Amino acid sequence: MNYRAYHAISAFYDRVNADVDYGAWADYIEENFRRYLPQKPELLLDLACGTGSMTLTLARRGYDMIGVDGSAEMLNIAMERARAAAHPEILFLMQDMREFELYGTVGAVTCCLDSVNYLTEDGDLKECFATVHNYLDPDGLFFFDVNTPYKFEHIYGDNAYIFDEEDGDRLLYCGWQNFYDPETRLCDFDLTVFTEDGDGSYRREDESHTERCYTLEELTAALRATGFELLAVHGDTDFSTPAQDCERWYIVARAKKD
Ligand SMILES: C[S@@+](CC[C@H](N)C(=O)[O-])C[C@H]1O[C@@H](n2cnc3c(N)ncnc32)[C@H](O)[C@@H]1O
Repeated sequence: MNYRAYHAISAFYDRVNADVDYGAWADYIEENFRRYLPQKPELLLDLACGTGSMTLTLARRGYDMIGVDGSAEMLNIAMERARAAAHPEILFLMQDMREFELYGTVGAVTCCLDSVNYLTEDGDLKECFATVHNYLDPDGLFFFDVNTPYKFEHIYGDNAYIFDEEDGDRLLYCGWQNFYDPETRLCDFDLTVFTEDGDGSYRREDESHTERCYTLEELTAALRATGFELLAVHGDTDFSTPAQDCERWYIVARAKKD
């Protein structure tokens, strides 16, 4: 599988998300380990790992890491970052988050930065959660976050954004248009990326992403149906209770196995 949605944006991705505090997020994950696990897990899976920001953050804290993603472009960047950070041991696999295969089980699975919203078809959520459950140790923890309905309705809406930045002597430019349909609860993001080639000419690439808006009831039902116990829903990595205008839910679930 080569998930095409991250073809052009991969080169920009880490700059667009430069304000995401993966250190604080990893602190939150480790505090949940202390709360819910008898001992620190050794092997973790970072599902939909993208360019490997969380994978590397956790590897630096001493965990053995596997990263799974469907995009060859994102994984290439992740592997290069891991090599440069002296973590060549991280196993990166190009697989679909709904039906990936590992060699055995892991102590916890992280799936960060609204990757779960990329599950857009009916049945995707359960398929993904069931596969995660299959590869978790008994009582292993599953961490994921989603963009909330509030964010789709009030922040994304039909907004457009422009992002540009200089990369050395090259100019990177990205136009970004959202279309949210409250009927289907699908949000299309149409991106146009212009990259300066070094001789004054620009290369144009277009790509579209689609995210699906999930309610807490839908997420909870899918977790229960696939053998998880919902442990917590937070509004931020500071363990706060989600407010009505919260833009991201941080969800922790435990894999029950008899
Ligand atoms: C918003 S990015 C998040 C990446 C990373 N978790 C982070 O924190 O930066 C979403 C990621 O999900 C991946 N993705 C989307 N759908 C997928 C699928 N069906 N299977 C595997 N990866 C998928 C994309 O390739 C992309 O890397």
